[in-house]
Amino acid sequence: MHIHVLGAAAGGGFPQWNCNCPNCDGLRKGTINATKRTQSSICVSSNGVDWVLFNASPDVLQQIQDFAPLQPGRNIRDSGIQAIVLIDAQIDHTTGLYMLREGKVKREIYCTDMVYEDLTSGNQVLNILSHYCGINRHVVPIDGTDLSKSSSFTIPNVPNLKFTAVALKSAAPPYSPHRNDPKAGDTIGVLIEEISTGKKCWYSPGLGEIEPHLPQFMTQADCIMVDGTFWTDTEMIDMGLMTKTARSIGHNPQSGKGGMIEKLDEFGPKEGQAVRKVLIHINNTNPILREDSAERATLSQHGIEVAYDGMDIIL
Ligand code: MLT
Ligand code: MN
Ligand code: ZN
Repeated sequence: MHIHVLGAAAGGGFPQWNCNCPNCDGLRKGTINATKRTQSSICVSSNGVDWVLFNASPDVLQQIQDFAPLQPGRNIRDSGIQAIVLIDAQIDHTTGLYMLREGKVKREIYCTDMVYEDLTSGNQVLNILSHYCGINRHVVPIDGTDLSKSSSFTIPNVPNLKFTAVALKSAAPPYSPHRNDPKAGDTIGVLIEEISTGKKCWYSPGLGEIEPHLPQFMTQADCIMVDGTFWTDTEMIDMGLMTKTARSIGHNPQSGKGGMIEKLDEFGPKEGQAVRKVLIHINNTNPILREDSAERATLSQHGIEVAYDGMDIIL
């Protein structure tokens, strides 16, 4: 299984256009040891030809240009992207759909009912696409009454991969009619399995808390890719950028009690092999973006990697 990180940053990217936090300012001026990152997306394939795009970032056109396998060039209009799985309806995961409107072949979109509702009401993107390429929407079923139940699906044009969707505690987008009334299916994590090898990757770029129903899925993974948005719960408050905590907007921070570092320590090794632990969806304020920071060193001590654009994970 080939997992390619198209964009490793959270909403806004790194640097963010209007941000002068020490990271964004330092990156622009070349005074910090860090690399720019586009907004949150990965693509996954087993055969290297047929790809699933996870999320459609505002930077998707640049991301496609930067990864040649997504443009195999077999026909006058063509793409290696066979389907798009949306893990939530956030702007940084869906705005790229507007950029993927060309062509006569319908986009194959996999999302939960809650995400579909947001993308046909608060944000009309899926309705708007019907005036261009059109979509085939496939339901990712979520059982809101028993979160330990999961639903698996395959995608016809993407051979040898199986996907298991799990409801996560996170938050609906700020524009959502039910922003303050979380529902199962607003955000999912996905266990991606290569059928022939049994290799698995857990992917959850928006993860507010590792709830009791999650370890049964995460422990199966050879690679765990999780929410790396913030270092502390009060990061945005401390910088005067927001009045809300990380957890309250659906992002478990890395540090502190119950933080991602402590939680990730509980996973691996699997069958004698080290489990890869990768943070993704990293906000531009996060000190882990500075490669020589104390926070980055702490992650390394715990065997945790920080995703970057162009990162390839082969399982
Ligand atoms: C999030 O991950 O919380 C959102 O992408 C934030 C945003 O859209 O600005
Ligand atoms: Mn986001
Ligand atoms: Zn910034």
